[in-house]
Amino acid sequence: MTSAEEKRLAAEAAINHVSDGMCLGVGTGSTVELFIELLVEKVAAENISITAVPSSYATELRLHDAGIATLPLGRVTSLVCAVDGADEVDTKLALIKGGGAALLREKILAAAAQQLIIIVDSAKLVDKLGTRMPVPVEILPDALALTMDRIQKLGGSPRLRQADRKAGPIITDNGNFILDVTFPQIPNPARLEERLNVIPGVLENGLFPTYADVVYVGKGKGATLLQR
Ligand code: A5P
Repeated sequence: MTSAEEKRLAAEAAINHVSDGMCLGVGTGSTVELFIELLVEKVAAENISITAVPSSYATELRLHDAGIATLPLGRVTSLVCAVDGADEVDTKLALIKGGGAALLREKILAAAAQQLIIIVDSAKLVDKLGTRMPVPVEILPDALALTMDRIQKLGGSPRLRQADRKAGPIITDNGNFILDVTFPQIPNPARLEERLNVIPGVLENGLFPTYADVVYVGKGKGATLLQR
C-alpha cells in the first residue's frame, strides 16, 4: 500500500466527524488535500452546509476553488473540531508539525479546536519525536542570528530552510523564516516547546505535545484510531 493510499484511508475516517452546519478547522498538507476532496464530495452528496477555517494560503485557495465557504483564522476563538496532518506522531500522541511551514497558524487552529483530529500514513508513527524530522521553528527574520545562537545553546542544530524555485530562504505565509532544528534527543517535548518559544524572535515551533485528541493512521484495510 502506498503512503497516498494510507493518507486517503485516514482522511476517510476523519470525514465521519463532519456534520451539517459545522464550522471546521482545516490544516495543511497532502493528507489534508485528500480530506478536502472527500469534504467536497460529502457536501455535494448530502447537500450539507460547512464553513471551513484554513491554516494556510494553500488550504484557503483549495477550499475556495472547491466552493467551500471560509472564515479567516483571525475571526475564530473556538471550533468544534479541526482536521490536520502531522510529520511525526509518538506513542503519547505528541506531534511534530510544520513540514509545510504552516505550523504557526496550525497551532492557533489546534488551540481553538475543542477536538483536534490528526490524519497520517503509518510512516509518521515514531517511538520518539525527532526520529525522522527536525523540529521546525518559525522566527522573525531580524532574529536570525540570535535565535540560531540560543537554539544551539539548547543543544539544537538549526538550519535555515531554503525555498524551492525561489532564491534564498523560504518565507512563510506570515512573512517569516523557518529554522529546521535537529536535537540529539527530545526527552520532554512539552518542556522543549516552552524553552524554544521564550527565545525572543521565535514566533512558534512545530512541537505539539498535547494538542491531538484523535489520530487516524491509514494502514491495511482501514484506519487505526489512536486516542488520548
Ligand atoms: C504543514 O505545515 C504540516 O504541519 C503538515 O500538516 C504536515 O507536514 C503533514 O503533511 P503531509 O500531510 O503532506 O504529510
